[in-house]
Amino acid sequence: MLEFPKEFLWGASTSAYQVEGDNVSSDWWEWEKRVNLKYPSGKAARHYEFYAQDFDLAKELNHNCHRLSIEWSRIEPEEGRFSAKELEHYKQVILSLKARSLKPIVTLHHFTNPIWFAKAGGWRNKQAVQYFLRYVEKVVGALAGDVPFWVTINEPMVYTYFSYFLGTWPPQERSILRARQVTGNLVKAHIAAYHLIRDIYQKKNLEYPQISIAQNMQAFIPCLPSLKNKISAYFRHKFYNLEFIDKLIRKHSIDFIGMNYYSPSWVGKVNCANQPALRKNSMGWDIYPQGLYDLLMGLKKYNLPVFILENGICTDNDALRWDYIREHLESVNKALLGGVKILGYVYWSLLDNYEWDKGFAPRFGLVEVDYNTYKRTIRESARKFSEVCKTGRL
Ligand code: BGC
Repeated sequence: MLEFPKEFLWGASTSAYQVEGDNVSSDWWEWEKRVNLKYPSGKAARHYEFYAQDFDLAKELNHNCHRLSIEWSRIEPEEGRFSAKELEHYKQVILSLKARSLKPIVTLHHFTNPIWFAKAGGWRNKQAVQYFLRYVEKVVGALAGDVPFWVTINEPMVYTYFSYFLGTWPPQERSILRARQVTGNLVKAHIAAYHLIRDIYQKKNLEYPQISIAQNMQAFIPCLPSLKNKISAYFRHKFYNLEFIDKLIRKHSIDFIGMNYYSPSWVGKVNCANQPALRKNSMGWDIYPQGLYDLLMGLKKYNLPVFILENGICTDNDALRWDYIREHLESVNKALLGGVKILGYVYWSLLDNYEWDKGFAPRFGLVEVDYNTYKRTIRESARKFSEVCKTGRL
């Protein structure tokens, strides 16, 4: 039997655009319409209306924290016009988490932007950081005190990769130069937001919250153990997993390392006979729990607590979901024993949701959503996970 620390945080994550529905002022919404996307987000999981019932489920599943995001385009649907109604909505969302003793972990940017911001050049605009800070000030001003954990930006590397390098997500740009420019602005945005959030808490005489980003990390594995592959895996790890965080650490503007881990990435894959046949999720991503352990151990050198803010599987095989969770928790436990300070484990996702350009087919939820009736059904894997949340034992 494996034991987790008493104060360990257990929960699940969502993001506004993927669950709320009807985010009509968001650049993703505009893009879905403009390119006639096969799978538009529509009502998503209607979490905007049903959040209280959804949090009842999280509570029933013995979670003690919950990660969600604020949709910027709701708060500021037009440049400079802030919606008091939407700020109040999120205030109620946070309060309803607190009422259920679920610690809120709040993300300020999870891939989507207001349409006006995107039209003004999005994250390439020189003003982008200033725009973001104005929004952050409003949100944090309204919610400070009730939020112990802030995540400024979700997966900056994933966002720039799909939106500015591969060009499959809005604004569909394909340029290394622009991707670098956007990454640079995201670094600046985080650092400035970090200090702004702390200033707001200080002015209100509140205890400082814990602030970070959610960094997507992949386990880069050489397919054949050649020197070339090993060097390449090393540099990819350094560049993709660590560079962004290194920059924040250098500026003393990160309190813990928020990490999202799903799968490995094979290096030197062409004609690779060595690649083991691993189990896969329904989008074809390999399952490799050892990767989580290796990454966690690699983060030990920073001497900062780590918070696993996403880890999960889309599958129609719920037994495999539980295997995935159990095996990744084994890795977390091993890393704890190896001396890594880990604050908690947050599964992606509480609910089945809108998986971006892949639509609604991938099922990541601990809770199943019927997209015809919006009925929620707790999956068996969620029940098994809830035992771990309750007892701190696996
Ligand atoms: C993102 C989520 C996404 C999940 C599964 C993460 O990279 O933060 O928005 O749904 O992965 O693809």
